[in-house]
Amino acid sequence: MQIETITTQAYSDQNPGTSGLRKKVKVFQQAGYLENFVQSIFSSLEDFSGKTLVLGGDGRYFNRTAIQIIIKMAAANGFGELIIGQSGLLSTPAASHIIRKYHAFGGLVLSASHNPGGPDEDFGIKYNVSNGGPAPEKDTQAFYQYSQSISSYKTTHFADVDLDNIGIQYRGDFKITIIDPVTDYAELMQSIFDFPLLKQSISSGYITLLFDAMSAITGPYAKRILVDMLGAPEASIINAVPLEDFGGHHPDPNLAHAHELAERMFSADAPTFGAASDGDGDRNMITGSQIFVTPSDSLAIMAANATLIPAYAKGLSGVARSMPTSQAVDRVAAQFQLPCYETPTGWKFFGNLLDAEKITLCGEESFGTGSNHVREKDGLWAVLFWLNLIAQKRQSVADIVHEHWQKFGRDIYSRHDYEAVETPIANAMIEHLRELIAELPGKAFGEYVVSYADEFCYEDSVDGSISKNQGIRIGFANGSRMVFRLSGTGTVGATLRIYLERFEADASQHNQDAQVALADLITLAEQFCEIKKRTGRTEPNVIT
Ligand code: G1P
Ligand code: ZN
Repeated sequence: MQIETITTQAYSDQNPGTSGLRKKVKVFQQAGYLENFVQSIFSSLEDFSGKTLVLGGDGRYFNRTAIQIIIKMAAANGFGELIIGQSGLLSTPAASHIIRKYHAFGGLVLSASHNPGGPDEDFGIKYNVSNGGPAPEKDTQAFYQYSQSISSYKTTHFADVDLDNIGIQYRGDFKITIIDPVTDYAELMQSIFDFPLLKQSISSGYITLLFDAMSAITGPYAKRILVDMLGAPEASIINAVPLEDFGGHHPDPNLAHAHELAERMFSADAPTFGAASDGDGDRNMITGSQIFVTPSDSLAIMAANATLIPAYAKGLSGVARSMPTSQAVDRVAAQFQLPCYETPTGWKFFGNLLDAEKITLCGEESFGTGSNHVREKDGLWAVLFWLNLIAQKRQSVADIVHEHWQKFGRDIYSRHDYEAVETPIANAMIEHLRELIAELPGKAFGEYVVSYADEFCYEDSVDGSISKNQGIRIGFANGSRMVFRLSGTGTVGATLRIYLERFEADASQHNQDAQVALADLITLAEQFCEIKKRTGRTEPNVIT
């Protein structure tokens, strides 16, 4: 194989965020942009000569082009084999599983997750290590450092690989294996959940379901698992065909973006269970007839009932949540005497805890839940977990949630996002909050007395690494809490996220609307960060 060294110019903006490098497609299409970042990854890694790399993406616009470029660069850089999902498709959790199952050196996942796709929208790339999880910060920082002084990348010439036919192809000694993207993942799900019970509950009509694949990657996965294996009618999957632009929508599973599902679930003839997943299949939204389950509650309910699921029947070793996720799961952990960890936002921080078997389940308020079965959050896994719970408990989603609140109390929760704020204004807001930290503790705002205010800093209990500046937290004596942080996944300006929660022990108060119950905290949050004054915005773009 003739290796070519191509001269290139460094780009200053290749610093990966919460989950890989995400930019507009037009940015990725600049000469050498994708190549520079891929070379920066390869050049920062060691000892992969002859080893296997997994490659696939969520099928968004630019996926196929990027895959052909990466195939040639992987060959030129010395990998021995590539495992690629058919048509270049792999959901993020399936990619994680395939890296683990085939003992690959690592993988490249091409996705911008829930961000919109298309020629004028977003693309992304993320490197996952051999445990199947996102590269830790020390690696992503090494990629960035390398990208800042890169002057050349390696590639080679050969005919484009046929991505659409399953089988093995060679270019010289370099092996390319095209696999079915669903089969291995479906088998894994079958090994975790009670498929015979699920099949029986679905075919008998006890469970009726609606799954919104949002014209993204989970369509083929849901079809195989829910329809072919579990017998759900084909019509129970909507937006089932993956499209390069997700039909022009945001493939983000929340009540705003999955509006067709939301409408059906709150209609008179709603199915028992409704769910949606995102662009790359790692997020999930859970609903039941007339009820939306917040991701924080979903995690807590999963933890409280995990032993009903075959794979977790022996119990959990511990649980973890990202810092802004509500404290609902902490209450379950306390009752079951389970270790409970609080990590910064982003799935990469769960990897060490899972590898060290300190935790079995983990989740984030941002519609992410997962377990030790892979090293990514997993949308369809969460759907199957809930279906298995409903089938086993023979209770509706609403009954499961209300019963949980009665036992543990309700952590009323909401997140408010202000998108596309000018970056200097957003940074100034965070700086202003930093200054407030020192003076807030002890101050009273109506019935809210500040008990602590700090900027979250995480020390990894496995490798001792420290991650600073992970969000401003303000806690109150009555257990309420608010968190402010800037998104690390956006591609336009800055997004301010405000996370609000209030604990309600009294069951007679559990059926309140979250925005009403949190009204005082919302006003206080505004007072602290001065978003109206600083941006002129009167309300958030997205409330979840
Ligand atoms: C967002 C979520 C975070 C999640 C990430 C990737 O990151 O808040 O929990 O891990 O997407 O799905 P953010 O934009 O807040 O940095
Ligand atoms: Zn995602």
